[in-house]
Amino acid sequence: MGLFKSSDKTAGRLDTDRLPRHIAIIMDGNGRWAKKRGLPRTAGHAVGAETFRKVATHCKELGVEYLTVYAFSTENWKRPKDEVDAIMGILETYLHEAIETMERDRVKMKFFGDVSVLSPALRELIAETERISDTFDGVQVNMCVNYGGRSEIIRAAECWARDREAGDTGELTEEKFERYLYSAGIPDPDLIIRPSGEYRLSNFLMWQSAYSEFYFTDVLWPDFNERELDRAIIEYQRRDRRYGMIR
Ligand code: FPP
Repeated sequence: MGLFKSSDKTAGRLDTDRLPRHIAIIMDGNGRWAKKRGLPRTAGHAVGAETFRKVATHCKELGVEYLTVYAFSTENWKRPKDEVDAIMGILETYLHEAIETMERDRVKMKFFGDVSVLSPALRELIAETERISDTFDGVQVNMCVNYGGRSEIIRAAECWARDREAGDTGELTEEKFERYLYSAGIPDPDLIIRPSGEYRLSNFLMWQSAYSEFYFTDVLWPDFNERELDRAIIEYQRRDRRYGMIR
């Protein structure tokens, strides 16, 4: 695992021929961004959703194939109800808008997590966005909602156990296990970005991050932008990815 903290010495050129295929982001720092401005935390989430839009568009323009974002974790339910409701409301507004624009942008949307416990309105929007965009060939956005890496792995194990009981006698390999994850068929993230000065994975993509490169920055998510994404990619392009081998 390549750990890297950003610095101001990141001047360089982004090589569009060596882009990470899959970027994953922990959108952190919304609350602190709002607090610094004397605003309610929910204002930070609203601006955070704008940042997500900008970053997704930039990924699309650059030609990044997959963007996975952590919108709401299995642990986020422990937050005050007002804040949880606000995040769900922001998500709902975003999905309404996305349905209007996704055909033009060819954005494909997938949801990772147990969405069965969300409101009927949100569940319907999620099903609709996945259905409409299923055949689109632009950037694929994977939105993690009520997602936790550990519960994803347990869910996969349960699904495999069911198949085994139903008669699958084949050996359980890594490749086979991956087919039971939300990310089935999607390459592992090449680059995982965590803004806001925290250095944790926080139960995000626990299986898939085995060989990801990590990029940390002190910038709070609402202040993150296209330039910050370019910086992260430039740093990523300096890494020597060995996957446990010697070169
Ligand atoms: C972490 O920051 C952020 C979240 C738990 C929620 C992120 C949700 C959004 C950006 C809106 C989702 C909608 C779309 C369209 C992507 P924090 O609240 O933990 O910040 P803090 O660490 O500063 O308190």
